[in-house]
Amino acid sequence: MFSRNCVLLAVFSFLVICPVTTVAAQPEVDPGSASGFPFQLRYNYYDEKCEDLEGIVWSKMKTIVKLQHNAPAQLLRLMFHDCFIGGCDASVLLADRNENGTVEREAIPNRTLKGFNFIDTIKDEIEEECPGVVSCSDILVLATRDGIVLAGGPYYPVLTGRRDSKESFFDKAMAEIPRPNGNFSETLRLFSVRGFDERETVALLGAHNIGRIGCQFIRPRLSNFTGTGLPDPTIPPYFLEELRRKCPDDNNTISNMLNDEHTDTARGLSVSIATSLNNHYYKTLMRGRGLLFADQQLMANEKTAAAATDYAIDDGNIFRTEFAHAMAKMSNFGVVTGSKGEVRHSCSHLNS
Ligand code: HEM
Repeated sequence: MFSRNCVLLAVFSFLVICPVTTVAAQPEVDPGSASGFPFQLRYNYYDEKCEDLEGIVWSKMKTIVKLQHNAPAQLLRLMFHDCFIGGCDASVLLADRNENGTVEREAIPNRTLKGFNFIDTIKDEIEEECPGVVSCSDILVLATRDGIVLAGGPYYPVLTGRRDSKESFFDKAMAEIPRPNGNFSETLRLFSVRGFDERETVALLGAHNIGRIGCQFIRPRLSNFTGTGLPDPTIPPYFLEELRRKCPDDNNTISNMLNDEHTDTARGLSVSIATSLNNHYYKTLMRGRGLLFADQQLMANEKTAAAATDYAIDDGNIFRTEFAHAMAKMSNFGVVTGSKGEVRHSCSHLNS
């Protein structure tokens, strides 16, 4: 059971064990029009305005995850795509009101995003308790953090006080979300301009410990990879056969934890290991069993391979600590604060 005492203990341990707090981990670049002052974020921002906010989010997430075991993965990816483009400002949540396909959510890399409904459900409950006060961007970041804990990952304290963007960044999303079969130097560059070094990038990709991957992202590796007429040479032959069997067409999906299919009832959620956020991902990379080209490429660069190996050979603690740091850092990236933006009434629509 994840009590308030446990939260306090976790905050204390995070601050003591990890002296580089989230406040110190600020973005090193201005991510464009969503620039704000992350220092205006603080712990317990809603103490006077919506005292039990974190309790409400935690309790809703417990219910959601019981019903939909993949919710943590869906939210984690949703948050990554939000924060990466224009900062953590809920811009990705805006629906295509005019149906002209130019909102961020409609950009090609975002078309397979899921989990919007979970944010709407949580927002509805919060609007009942504390109308017009809590931003969608804070809800996304808090719900993702709680999802990570419910998926067996680490707890990290989250600063609050974000506001929601009034803009949506379609072009940026088209250009700057890393591609599954993209050039690896370009991938590293995209993380680097947002202040994440190679090691932090490797830690963040550990998110691929959980969730599902559509075969449409894997099949291009299985034949005629990048126009060579051959499969991706980094796939070992026995794994190639397995992937071909599991991905007969684009419509299938594969569990990120293809390699490990036990059941884990330890957290009382009856979830399979496929929803367990541990260091298993890195162990699979060491065996050449990365599902995406972008995953396996972590082993092709000296610095990223060294980080992936550190995470793989340890009992999981190094990964947990560094993943928590990297997630806390990403949560603060390019936030909108102060008098900028707005607090949306509905997460998928601007207020006016
Ligand atoms: C090189 C960088 C990355 C690339 C190319 C990439 C690409 C992808 C792709 C293609 C999928 C499959 C989506 C689908 O089939 O619906 C996926 C799933 C996922 N990604 Fe990434 N990703 C990257 C980094 C990250 C990061 C940094 C995070 C979070 C911190 C993340 C979290 C996830 C999660 C949790 C899933 C599973 C989603 C689900 O089950 O619905 N990814 N990613």
